[in-house]
Amino acid sequence: MVTINVVRRSGETVSFEADENGSLMEAIRNAGIEEMLALCGGCCSCATCHVHVEPGFENILPPLGEDENDLLDSSSDRDPSSRLSCQIPVTSALDGLTVRIAAED
Ligand code: FES
Repeated sequence: MVTINVVRRSGETVSFEADENGSLMEAIRNAGIEEMLALCGGCCSCATCHVHVEPGFENILPPLGEDENDLLDSSSDRDPSSRLSCQIPVTSALDGLTVRIAAED
């Protein structure tokens, strides 16, 4: 199991254990954090699974994809820590990861 910490829009931090399969988006949704809409279901076409990755984990994440980069450009809350959580597989390398749910566009 992989421990994931999520800072909600309210500022509350939620910690949960995720299985090493599926995406970070699915793990966050399965933990009951429904403010992250993930409208396209992980097809990399909506950008509503936008999160900010806290420092220290950037280098263990898969590289930013071209489609992911283009979609993130549509968000007014984009910054260098921005990722689409549906594009990040949950692996043991993510243990202890903290992400913050991006502002609603
Ligand atoms: S869930 Fe739509 S882009 Fe990630």
